Order: sequence, then C-alpha cells, then structure tokens
Amino acid sequence: MTITVIGAGYVGLVTASLFAELGNKVYCIDIDKARIANLKKGIVPFYEPSLAEYISRSIKEKRLFFTDSYSQSVPKSQIVFICVGTPPKNNGEADLTYLFSAVEEAAKNLKGYTLITIKSTIPIGFEHDLEAIVKKYAKSKYEFASSPEFLREGTAISDSLHPDRIVIGTNSKKAEKMLLELHAPLPGERIICDTRSAQLIKYASNSFLATKISFANALAAICEKTGADVAKVVQGVGADKRIGHSYLYPGVGYGGSCLPKDVLAFIAQTRNFDYDFELLRAVDAINNAQVSSLVNKIRKSLGITDKTGKNLEGVEVAILGLAFKPNTDDMRDAPSVKIINVLVDLGANITAYDPKSNEVAKKILPNIKYANDLYKAINEKDLMVIVTEWPQFAEIDLEKAKKLLKKPIIVDGRNILDPKKARDLGFSYTGIGR
Ligand SMILES: NC(=O)c1ccc[n+]([C@@H]2O[C@H](COP(=O)([O-])OP(=O)(O)OC[C@H]3O[C@@H](n4cnc5c(N)ncnc54)[C@H](O)[C@@H]3O)[C@@H](O)[C@H]2O)c1
Repeated sequence: MTITVIGAGYVGLVTASLFAELGNKVYCIDIDKARIANLKKGIVPFYEPSLAEYISRSIKEKRLFFTDSYSQSVPKSQIVFICVGTPPKNNGEADLTYLFSAVEEAAKNLKGYTLITIKSTIPIGFEHDLEAIVKKYAKSKYEFASSPEFLREGTAISDSLHPDRIVIGTNSKKAEKMLLELHAPLPGERIICDTRSAQLIKYASNSFLATKISFANALAAICEKTGADVAKVVQGVGADKRIGHSYLYPGVGYGGSCLPKDVLAFIAQTRNFDYDFELLRAVDAINNAQVSSLVNKIRKSLGITDKTGKNLEGVEVAILGLAFKPNTDDMRDAPSVKIINVLVDLGANITAYDPKSNEVAKKILPNIKYANDLYKAINEKDLMVIVTEWPQFAEIDLEKAKKLLKKPIIVDGRNILDPKKARDLGFSYTGIGR
C-alpha cells in the first residue's frame, strides 16, 4: 500500500518506519521544514533506540520518503495516518489546532478513495468535527477510522513490532478490511469497534496506568507512616497475576507527554459528558503531591526544619536524571522540571546530569548548571537526588560517590539503590516509602 503519515514526531516517525519496514511505500510529512531536511539525511530529531537505523534503512531501500508537501504524497495514498500532537490547553482539554490544520490540508489533497486514520489521541466523539472539515474540501471519496497508538518512548520500535493489541475503530467494513490487511504481519489482539470506543480505550488505558502509579505512591506514603517497606509491598501485591507488577512502582510521579495530559483530558471530557471522574482527580492530586514530598525529603535529609522562606539558600544539589524516564531525551512534563524549579525558588544551586537530555533540558532550564558525567555532577555537592531511573545510576560506585560529595546524603526518588548498602557505607539514604 501507499501510505502518508502526517506528523514526524515520536508517533509519526515510528508509524512511518514500521509500515515502511513491513514493505509499504510511506511518505512522512511535517510542517517543520528543518526537521524534514534532517530526516531526509537520516537525522532523527530526538533519541529513540533503533529508530535512526530503521529510518536510514528504509530511506536507502526507497520505501520511506520525507516531505513537507501534502500535494506530493496525499493524492498517491490509500491510507493517511494523522499523528500530530494534541497537547493540553490550560483547562486540561486537548488542543486540537494541529489536528484540525493537518486534516484540512489532507482533505484538500485527497484523490480517489482515501482512508483517514487518526492515530493522535483525540477526545471522544471528535470525528464529527473532523468530518465537517473534510466534507468542506474533499473532492473524492473518503472514510474515517480511529486507531490509537500505544507505544512507549524508549521502547517504541519494539512496542510497535510486538503490540499487545491493535485497535481499529470504524463503522466502515472497507476501512476495517484495509487496516486489518495493513497490520496483518503484526501480532496482537485485534479490537474492532466504533470510533468512540477506540478513543475511549486510549484514554482509559493511560489513565489506568497513571492510577497504578498513584496507587503505588499512596502505598509509599502509608509505608512511611507505618514503617513498612514499599518495595516489598508492591512486590507482594504485583505478584498477584490479576494485578501485575507493571506500572506498580512508587517514585517522583508520572510525567512525559502522555499520562499527565491524557488524565487531565479524560477528566475534562467526562465532565463535559456530565460525569465527575473523582477517582482520576485523586490520581492527579497524588501525582502532583510527589514533588513537594520529594522537596520535603531533601530538606529533612539536610536537617532543615524551617519550611519558610528560601530555606535551601546556597545548598548545592546534584540532580541525577532529567528525562521523564530512561532511554529517551523527552523532557515534556518531566517531574525533574517541577522539582528543579521548586528547589531553585527555595535558593538551591542545581547541577544536573542526564545521559541523553542535557541539551534538551538547557532550553527548558537555562538557569542551572549541567555536568557531562555522573561523578562530575556530584563533585563537591551537599547531596545527590536521583530523579530518573537510568540503569547507570543504579550502578553508581557508592564509595567513589562518598568521597566526591561534601556530605554523604542520597535522596533516591526512584528507589533504584539498595538502602542497606548505602547506609552501611555511611550514607544518609532516603527513598520513597522505605
Ligand atoms: N509520544 C508518545 O509516547 C505517544 C504515544 C501514544 C500516543 N501519542 C499521541 O500521539 C500524538 C502525537 O504525539 P507525538 O509525541 O508523536 O507528538 P510530537 O510533538 O512528537 O510530534 C508531532 C509532530 O507533528 C508535526 N505537525 C504539527 N502540525 C502539523 C501539520 N499540520 N502537518 C504536518 N505536521 C504537523 C509537528 O511539527 C511535530 O513534528 C499525540 O496525540 C499523542 O498524545 C503519543
């Protein structure tokens, strides 16, 4: 098949390289001309394991083409995937500006029957608004489908090659057949449904994952009050196959471009459908509280009892990890940004290190120092705070770290170090719920 993918971001590039890898001819469009120029040379705009190799191979084998021109690609395509961003507005609802503009441009260029498939996460029922736009411009036959994306940054290629499920939301038999054929080489359960159910599956899935994380964080708070060890508690709870270990871990809270925005958008949408999603409001509140909880742990570990004014004035803090999770350089809605901003407001001096996202972070947090190595980051600091669970942080040489730090203090926001080992070496160790 010939396919156009609109939006060369995380979802668009992974979708385009997946379908090219499966033998289709794929055009990938973005309005960002510099991004397209780089992609033509095989330069990927962000860090995602294996993605650059897949893209370079498909470019070389003439299965994947990058362009900023809708007229060059859409008229030749049987399926157009919309993969543009749907970021949050101030009130939590999804901002659909990019989506409407992409759909309008696609509609102007349709030729022959085209299946417009929405991969972006969009609010329930919005296909009506999209249909109204397409109807205004389209000169040929088209149909709609909703096929939400479930990839995780950091493991996006492997997730798209081995999906748990492929959701096909459409009321057209022809569209269903085309999408089943396109996905035929891939494993995973097929969920065939209407578009609204497809959109709801996406919001419900991300909200459920966020709920598991906030549940684990609530357990961690209870463990701190009762003296239990949350690591053992989640191990015991998650061992039940009905519950599972995945996403049942405490930490500094969930972040990234999906969970926070999708939880808020789901709350906003359900309110519009006259349902107060109290459970999700609590999930969001617990997540927000993780930042102040970590800052309190930092104060406590330094012996600061006064919670007023700039009570961290002059304290040198090493922040280990900036990306919202390991194996990505994505800083969108990363907990590190909120934590660092609070610490800076309280007067702390920050030196941060992330194996992949220092450069991205410099644009978001220009007022802090950056180190290009873990040990340089902690050198002569009052304490080290682990914010992202990069594997190399779990393997830190604690004896070396003790010599470099001014004070042997660790606040482990991801519970990746062994508390006993750290304490035996003379560290003051504070984790989450243990
Ligand atoms: N990132 C993830 O992990 C993930 C996972 C599943 C679903 N999603 C959803 O997929 C959608 C895309 O997310 P993303 O992270 O890939 O976004 P992104 O910000 O990485 O990429 C979006 C791209 O679309 C381009 N764009 C915007 N308007 C355009 C237009 N009119 N024509 C062509 N290109 C245009 C932008 O320049 C950008 O490169 C969102 O709805 C998101 O919620 C994301």
